[in-house]
Amino acid sequence: MLDLVLRSTTLPDGRIADLAFQDGALVSVGSAGKAHEDIRCNGLLCIPAATDMHVHMRGGTQSAKEDWRTGTMAALAGGVTMVVDQPNTIPPLLTPEAYTDRIREAKTGALCSFAVNAGVSPGSDPLPLWKAGAMAFGEIFAAPSSYGDALTIEELKVSLQKIHSLGALATIHSEEVGPGSPSDLTAHNLIRSPDGEARALGLIGEILPIGMKPHICHISSTASLRVAPGSKEVTPHHLFLAIEDFAPEDTFARVNPPIRPESDRRALFSSWNSIDLIASDHAPHTRSEKTVSFADAPSGLPGVETMLPLLMNEVVRKTITLNSLVEKTAIAPCRVLGIPPAGYAPGERSDFALYAMQPETIRSDNLHSRSGWTPFEGRMGVFPTLVIHKGRVAYRDGDYSYDSGGWVTGRGYLPREHI
Ligand code: DOR
Ligand code: ZN
Repeated sequence: MLDLVLRSTTLPDGRIADLAFQDGALVSVGSAGKAHEDIRCNGLLCIPAATDMHVHMRGGTQSAKEDWRTGTMAALAGGVTMVVDQPNTIPPLLTPEAYTDRIREAKTGALCSFAVNAGVSPGSDPLPLWKAGAMAFGEIFAAPSSYGDALTIEELKVSLQKIHSLGALATIHSEEVGPGSPSDLTAHNLIRSPDGEARALGLIGEILPIGMKPHICHISSTASLRVAPGSKEVTPHHLFLAIEDFAPEDTFARVNPPIRPESDRRALFSSWNSIDLIASDHAPHTRSEKTVSFADAPSGLPGVETMLPLLMNEVVRKTITLNSLVEKTAIAPCRVLGIPPAGYAPGERSDFALYAMQPETIRSDNLHSRSGWTPFEGRMGVFPTLVIHKGRVAYRDGDYSYDSGGWVTGRGYLPREHI
């Protein structure tokens, strides 16, 4: 007797098939026998679940914004079964002790698979953090941001050499930041301009160790897409939001890199084929933290739960293909990280999201991030009705049925030395 059968799902290529699971793994795609749990999935499109390689799950002293429980509830409800957490926590993850504490915290809270990156500071040694299980290094701040101090280009060069010598992945937040604190979204866009971002990326290209392929976080303009070395990540907020959509001083849209004018946003969306992968840069802040003057407001916005739904809605509208969505949200992030993606083949992770393909209006009341707001309020999204994680039902119609979690370690992990 099988553990679980998803009966008559629609696969991305249009075939109708039963998916059968045993002991947490997908064991057959086709026609399945009897199972303890049998779910009729007629008319539901089943795709490999997403890996979001850029989230800030907060927790610790920042739990009013988010914690591992609420952040991964949001992930699952959005069709994301693995998140990669960023190390600009309080304290930042610069020592194996801080790193190991962070893993302990994640293990007690996370409902989906997770990995945690390690921080990089001037002169820091990446080796102990690599051995402690870091998935990758960064986001390394080549420009300052909320909870992130910048490295100079010289410091960055030295750090990248050390990371490259480990064979590890460096992920980089790159911008050029002008003087002053911005008074509104337009000023923010000028202080951290698209051209500046492209120039900063050009500089990084010049200091890279020979043969190193970095990962560039949240690229926000077509100019940057053209010059960025390595793999290119773009966020939903840069694809879907523009300055013109908000009141000039709306702090809730303040994020680094900034959202751009509508013409730039449209150009970025039109460059869909040049984008390697999509990640949310889920960076929640509380409403009260955001309810201050623009100059004083923290940068960042929540987005892990709305990432796939916004893109799936574009599939419904036929502006992007389903295959490209799966490639950029489920396959490419894992290729960049060097881990198995979710999918139907042996050795792939048995994580799937199933959709009735019914667009609905995004409302913060229906979302799960503790921050309690979304910059995508009122937009259309297609949410999954069923999410499978490690071959078991993790989320179904608003309910979480399986407390799964699971740490995915980096390649340098030496278990006997840590945890
Ligand atoms: O807007 C941002 N917020 N950009 C970042 O790079 C960091 C993030 C945060 O952690 O709040
Ligand atoms: Zn960043």
